[in-house]
Amino acid sequence: MPTQRLTLLFMKPTTNYKRYTWFVLIFVFIVILAGGVVRTTQSGMGCPDWPTCFGRWIPPTDVNQLPPDYEKYLRQQDIDHTFNAYHTWIEYINRLLGALLGVFIFIHLVWSYRLFRKTKPSIFYLSFLLLLATGFQGWLGKKVVDANLAVVKITTHMIVALIIAAIPVIILARLKENKTVVPRSLKLISVVALALVIVQIVLGTEVREQVDEVSRALLYGSRDTWIGRLDKWFLVHRSFSWLVAASGIYLFIRTRPYPELRPAGLLIGSMVLLAISAGLLMNFLDVPPAAQPVHLMAASILSISLLSLRLRMK
Ligand code: HEM
Repeated sequence: MPTQRLTLLFMKPTTNYKRYTWFVLIFVFIVILAGGVVRTTQSGMGCPDWPTCFGRWIPPTDVNQLPPDYEKYLRQQDIDHTFNAYHTWIEYINRLLGALLGVFIFIHLVWSYRLFRKTKPSIFYLSFLLLLATGFQGWLGKKVVDANLAVVKITTHMIVALIIAAIPVIILARLKENKTVVPRSLKLISVVALALVIVQIVLGTEVREQVDEVSRALLYGSRDTWIGRLDKWFLVHRSFSWLVAASGIYLFIRTRPYPELRPAGLLIGSMVLLAISAGLLMNFLDVPPAAQPVHLMAASILSISLLSLRLRMK
């Protein structure tokens, strides 16, 4: 009986596949959010080794369960060099989510192969690229651990995460039969808005690297001094928001007359406001920890919804 259901799932054409692609996309964002929580809670070094955690597949919950050579692991940690079960388990759950995403993407590849290998091979290739990018991300995760969270690698990690989120959106767009016909000016502005957000994200990762350096030097304390210690890139990032806000809100208004584009326009408008609000909170309220992953998520969803909007236009 279960085999029969599985066969039905594979045989039932595109609808289920599209739903599953949506599921993979949402799961990618869950993994991005989990990464943000790891950073905000300073749990990145909760598992000092990789892929095991304190040399075990299921990490210790208590100091008594540490392996005899535990000091060699603790020496690799960047700040406190003590065992903290809370940090260890946050990092471990983050890794589990990443591994689960790998499994989901592998299933996606098999499904793409069965459904589109002959009719639309590009979908299969995109799915394959998704698996490759996710594998690369896992490998980079190990490098980040080895290098004790070196900042450049963290930025690459963020960019690859956005590429991973973009692929399901491109697949879904390719499977869409009818696109919405819009004036050329609207298409152009959507491309400009996407380019502005990408620039803003790169500027943001620069700011984030500085926040990492400053916060680490202060042993993650004195949050009220973090913003004051950032250099000109922070000011550029903050001012650039005006352009991002203007283009996002303009797109929100211009997509109102098109029922097919309205949800993407609404998402873009909301994410612009959310990213800016979280940014302002960090600016004026001494970088509250919760605002950091919210800011990151809003920026990620914003870039992906802009891509989705552009791909829906003809
Ligand atoms: C729509 C506009 C904006 C976008 C798309 C955006 C995007 C980003 C991104 C992608 C990051 C890197 C986050 C990470 O890697 O964890 C970042 C960091 C940052 N942004 Fe923005 N940002 C925007 C507006 C603002 C504004 C208005 C402010 C302040 C007034 C601000 C302040 C910051 C700060 C302080 C960081 C470092 C955050 C951290 O260390 O967690 N941003 N931004």
